[in-house]
Amino acid sequence: MKITVAGGAGYIGSHVARRLVEAGHQVVVFDNLSTGNRSSVPPGAAFVHGDVSDPLASRKVLAGSDALVYLAAWKAAGESMTDPVKYSRNNLQATLSFLDAAQEVGVKFVVFSSSAAVFGEPKYLPIDEDHPKDPTNYYGFTKLEIERVLAWYDRLLGMRSACLRYFNAAGYDPQGRITGLERNPANLIPVVMEAACGVREKVQVFGNDYDTHDGTGVRDYIHVTDLAEAHLMALQYLETQGKSFVVNLGTGKGLSVLDVVNSASKLIGRPVPHQIVGRREGDPAALWASGEKAKELLGWVPRHSDVDTIVSTTWAAYKANGLVK
Ligand code: WQD
Repeated sequence: MKITVAGGAGYIGSHVARRLVEAGHQVVVFDNLSTGNRSSVPPGAAFVHGDVSDPLASRKVLAGSDALVYLAAWKAAGESMTDPVKYSRNNLQATLSFLDAAQEVGVKFVVFSSSAAVFGEPKYLPIDEDHPKDPTNYYGFTKLEIERVLAWYDRLLGMRSACLRYFNAAGYDPQGRITGLERNPANLIPVVMEAACGVREKVQVFGNDYDTHDGTGVRDYIHVTDLAEAHLMALQYLETQGKSFVVNLGTGKGLSVLDVVNSASKLIGRPVPHQIVGRREGDPAALWASGEKAKELLGWVPRHSDVDTIVSTTWAAYKANGLVK
């Protein structure tokens, strides 16, 4: 298939683009490089520099594509609460504009990057697809809105879509081919890496009084290579079954902040300086996914999402960037 990957120079998008090229698809990466890296675009993929909010450029890049993988969005939940307009512009307006361009030029299939943030505070665990959707941040709301638009476009326009709700994406290509780091990371795994290599003084552990096995927050860390595989499988499903669907992508297991800090320290053979501080506002105690539907529907099973692989592949990316002295 010819596939446009919007946001394909970004952290998750570049892993997805690489997997699609490997599987023999014709891939066009469309990215404005606001957070992505040109060097992360895999060999074998075409690159078009442009913005999803530009309808002319959008129609041009999408013309002739069978499928669109859409990852071009802001993703910092905290920031979405202080600068919602930034999220309205990109995650709603520009996303809709690009989806409409895709519809106009006859793109048949859409794979959309959604998020565990659509659920909000968990009512039960593991979180399955039917769990109530009640986002606690504006970022999650934007993802849920686009999911809803896609459900309507399926019904009204016959545009078939897969909404993939990522839990906590982490890790880097195990073969070391993608090493682009995020600028000013706020997510736990890169923060742990930065503390281990002295780029930051320490990890602030946001609370140790949660109702979890060690009191720190528990999350479902899913390796980007596993996420990339899910995108390929989602496209195959859309092409062969012709039915839209929504799935959660997680491992079904949770790791606490201290589990991550301790495993990382052991694995890389260095201390990870850390300090318990107060809770971060809006953080639920524990979140993990049910991976049952993804397994049943797509045959998707995470293979790289153990903590050792997540930490060692991320550490390798930090080394490749010359940050490990
Ligand atoms: C993980 C755990 C923190 C940093 C966010 C978005 C979510 C999704 C993934 C895209 C929590 C703790 C973290 C630190 C810490 N994004 N932590 N010290 O908040 O689960 O999810 O990224 O879809 O929408 O909200 O991820 O990596 O920030 O935090 O103690 O310096 O690590 O409290 O328990 P989060 P995270």
